[in-house]
Amino acid sequence: VFSAIEMAPRDPILGITEAFNADTNPAKINLGVGVYYDDNGKVPLLACVQKAEAILIEQAAPRTYLPIEGLATYDKAVQELVFGADSAVIQEKRAVTVQAIGGTGALKIGADFLQRFAPGAQVYISDPSWENHRALFESAGFKVNNYTYYDPSTAGVNFAGMLADLKAMPTGSVVLLHACCHNPTGADLNADQWGQIISVITANGLIPFLDMAYQGFGAGIAEDGAVVRRFADAGGPLLISNSFSKSFSLYGERVGALSVVASSAEEAARLLSQLKRVVRTNYSNPPVHGGKVVSTVLTTPELRQLWEDELAAMRVRIKEMRGALVAKLKEKAPSHDFEFVNKQVGMFSYSGLTKAQVDALRAESIYAVDTGRICVAALNSKNIDKVVDAIAKVL
Ligand code: LMR
Repeated sequence: VFSAIEMAPRDPILGITEAFNADTNPAKINLGVGVYYDDNGKVPLLACVQKAEAILIEQAAPRTYLPIEGLATYDKAVQELVFGADSAVIQEKRAVTVQAIGGTGALKIGADFLQRFAPGAQVYISDPSWENHRALFESAGFKVNNYTYYDPSTAGVNFAGMLADLKAMPTGSVVLLHACCHNPTGADLNADQWGQIISVITANGLIPFLDMAYQGFGAGIAEDGAVVRRFADAGGPLLISNSFSKSFSLYGERVGALSVVASSAEEAARLLSQLKRVVRTNYSNPPVHGGKVVSTVLTTPELRQLWEDELAAMRVRIKEMRGALVAKLKEKAPSHDFEFVNKQVGMFSYSGLTKAQVDALRAESIYAVDTGRICVAALNSKNIDKVVDAIAKVL
């Protein structure tokens, strides 16, 4: 039964980490996966996380099963973070949140849920989008289409094209949007453009699904989350997947959540009951540790402040690396203009490097995604010159 099974291709992002791990060159640099490294090239264990873990060790709580929808304090804290504590959808009990296995797990719960209740809908993702979006919705049984997004000539958003594509989508289509820090391009919509997108989505009866994996890496926690609040104010339906992998540097703990906005508290209760069925038939209930760490930090004022400061420091360091990359490339490759890198937001830069150039970098043990996406958050004061020299050479 297994003899005819073909080898699957490597994952376009995590497969790069596999190749990187297999590389024996001690000077290798991984600009592939979206992981934040500090200036010493280490993935930080945040002080707020360490302090929360100390509290949890002290409590020595037994590891019973969590409820199917996750830890209640976590789900509440996530809602308040995502929608704002004073949000009408929380006060009116129109929002439901389930703890998920990272942002990917949240997307998968949402995709399976939609497949049950909107099976004929088509899904639209940005061109380009995170590599796993298409695969994830296709594996849930959807036809996945692209909508116009990135304009390489401006390294920004082709907004007229995006709006036209949204207007042409059939009613009931699912539109996957990046709430902030667009992955892979780093090109975000401005506040006015979001307003126009929300109008079209509402008027045409589309189902927005916001993926927010990088809250706090753009302009700030509240600023990056503002778009979610605007969508929530516009009324449901609305789905939001969020992740703490990056913002808490808790990649391996798999801490995320799916929130869904309903039109009434009664409808919300029905949605929650169905979301629980999706979770139960996938992995039963979520793990305890990461959810407890995040909810402890979010609900303990000193730890929360510490987290906000630590996240701000990551955001600032990434911006500094953007500036350094642009300045150094100007020196080493003066005929190429990389100023657009300073305008991009979040962890990534869609560098414009071709697949052939990415391959050439790999020969120097510098790893990037085939599309030319590089993780700026993996640059530091020690490796940036090597990266710049290598890019200048492949250009
Ligand atoms: C990325 O885009 O690199 C991250 O979101 C990690 C992943 O799961 O692909």
